Amino acid sequence: MPQAVFHFPRGFLWGTVTASHQVEGNNTNNNWWKWEQEGHTNGTSGLACDWWGGRWREDFDRAAEAGQNAHRFSVEWSRIQPAPNQWDEDALEKYRAMLRGLRERGILPMVTLHHFTDPLWVWEHGAWESAETAGLFEKFVRKTVDALKEYCSLWCTINEPNVYALSGYANGAFPPGAHNIKRAVGVEANMLRAHAAAYRAIHQIQPEARVGYALHYRPMVAKNKWSPLDALMRSLRYEGINMAFPSAISTGVLKSPVGNLSVPEAKGTQDYLGLNYYSLDRISFHLGKPKDLFTHSDFHEDADLSDNNFIANIPEGFYESIKWAVRTYPNTPIIVTENGVEDSDDHMRPRYLAQHVHQMWRATNFNWPVKGYFHWSLVDNFEWERGWTQRFGLWELDVETQKRTKRPSADLYAAICKENGLSSDMVAKYCPEVSEKIFPS
Ligand code: BGC
Repeated sequence: MPQAVFHFPRGFLWGTVTASHQVEGNNTNNNWWKWEQEGHTNGTSGLACDWWGGRWREDFDRAAEAGQNAHRFSVEWSRIQPAPNQWDEDALEKYRAMLRGLRERGILPMVTLHHFTDPLWVWEHGAWESAETAGLFEKFVRKTVDALKEYCSLWCTINEPNVYALSGYANGAFPPGAHNIKRAVGVEANMLRAHAAAYRAIHQIQPEARVGYALHYRPMVAKNKWSPLDALMRSLRYEGINMAFPSAISTGVLKSPVGNLSVPEAKGTQDYLGLNYYSLDRISFHLGKPKDLFTHSDFHEDADLSDNNFIANIPEGFYESIKWAVRTYPNTPIIVTENGVEDSDDHMRPRYLAQHVHQMWRATNFNWPVKGYFHWSLVDNFEWERGWTQRFGLWELDVETQKRTKRPSADLYAAICKENGLSSDMVAKYCPEVSEKIFPS
């Protein structure tokens, strides 16, 4: 095997990413806590990774020792604004301490302002189906950004609005468990208005801020290339899942399967594109699936599948996603805001990581403006409706004892971060099974 190192541009951001409800613990005042208590999830978040109890310190130490120079985490709206006319200054102070903690460790913070959870009072007032929520969110954003601006200037307004809307209102996995495309589109439209308002508010408060959102982008292929029905289903599903926010940011028009909506204020409201990539789907027409609009999604028979068959390791899909981003938004920086895999015994993660970093390196060789990569996740955390059944951490978490155990992938990622590149030696050591693919002789 040839000896080589694939280097990244100087200043590349190498980090991990977490979200408040998944790591903090005892987030009792939001819709997800309620949903968990009602028995909709596989276990409950409970103490999670106990970050609210202070364990963020030891986890940030781990990130710093592992050479990470950036970290993306989210703040919890329900903690900062527990009731419509109440702000919790202590909660804001805690987030300031976390941000200081990152800075002291030489880690650049990126803060997400909404990652799937809503305060109960917002939830009980119609959440994102209500036209008032965008204004409420803007108020929360103003207060929070003003309090945290000393330590952070890289903001992500909303994480995966498409996943929030479709999981909550179309496939029913998230609260409120609804199955209604029209409602889902309404939710996405309000999130888009909120994003646009937040984008402007943040720039007003902090002119140097870099603001965007994180898109869950899902590349798709038709199962049978020659089948016009599969092709049609692929394109319907692709547009429905991926294109609402991106099209609105380009044109001010939110595209949807139930009609297009004009949201002119959304046009141009992104300083970077946040790209979350996990896998690529194969789509076919299925008569037996009227609820899914007659589409069926699966992975190729020979796919390299994760623990619960949740993710297929398809690194080329990552390259294609970056290419799509560059073509859609020429001259816009791209930050990979999430990428990772569930793998409790770490048999697959090293190759998944190395192969995805390799594809990202290919992209940087075209001078495509990829500025950073955030791996999901630093430590195992609460995986929404799937609870604790999926383990995405570089560190394993024993939920009972709170003990962390390093997985080999953490060392591979540390080597990548410290080298600012991927070497043939790293691949030979951690995932020799893909050496020939990444460094062909
Ligand atoms: C979400 C994370 C989640 C991850 C892995 C992303 O869609 O933003 O919150 O944990 O996927 O499932």
